[in-house]
Amino acid sequence: MAFFNIYGLISWQVLAAPDAVLGKAKSQTCFACHGTDGIGITPNIPNIAAQPPLSLFYQLVQFREGMRKGGSMEVFAKPLSDDDIRDIAAYFSALSPPEAKAGDAAKLAVGQKITQQNYCNSCHAPKLQGQKQVPRLAGQSTEYFVTQLRNIRSGARVDMDGTMGSAARGLSDEDIEALAAYSASLN
Ligand code: HEC
Ligand code: HEC
Repeated sequence: MAFFNIYGLISWQVLAAPDAVLGKAKSQTCFACHGTDGIGITPNIPNIAAQPPLSLFYQLVQFREGMRKGGSMEVFAKPLSDDDIRDIAAYFSALSPPEAKAGDAAKLAVGQKITQQNYCNSCHAPKLQGQKQVPRLAGQSTEYFVTQLRNIRSGARVDMDGTMGSAARGLSDEDIEALAAYSASLN
């Protein structure tokens, strides 16, 4: 019986394998803001190219369920099924990462230091490229980054498990500016 159940599970996973080609077709409404290349068309719109698929998945589910709000994303996520979201995540995660952005050397050094002191890399990965459910920060728009980190710090944006909320609590506005510049400088 257990054997039979395992087979059932495997065939379900095979059927549900994410499909980036289908994902592109399902992302037509997204391109107006996030671009076909996953780069936000204005600085308040996040770059979602090369985000880890699981991170894209969780964020879209949070928007769909109304747990995260902003940029009318609740409206765009609403009609998506779990399979749609997996396909869309497969498409955007496979795109080339955003280009690194030059910044003031002293500010970048401060940002790097705060990153190390706060172990941001332990979750967001060594070069802040993201991993599993943890978003990519490397190459992110500084304006979007600053807004989100402030919202997470204030609790206006509630994160999945509270770990990011604790990580943000002790940061000053200057820290956040430096962290944003440092993240944008990575690729
Ligand atoms: C009208 C513009 C617009 C459209 C259309 C749009 N988005 Fe967004 N998206 C945004 C903005 C703005 C944000 C930032 C929201 C916030 O402030 O929290 C965002 C956030 C996101 C995020 C979170 C990224 C992160 O790093 O946390 C994902 C994922 C996303 N959008 C995917 C999509 C997908 C998939 C679609 C299509 C189904 C879509 N968006 C359609 C503007 C848009
Ligand atoms: C314990 C793990 C952990 C640590 C440490 C951590 N983060 Fe995060 N971070 C996360 C997770 C998980 C999310 C996604 C939260 C959610 O929406 O549920 C996130 C989200 C973010 C976001 C929003 C990104 C987006 O695309 O919307 C920013 C910005 C961010 N973190 C910056 C930082 C910085 C800077 C540090 C160090 C000061 C840090 N994080 C430390 C786990 C962590």
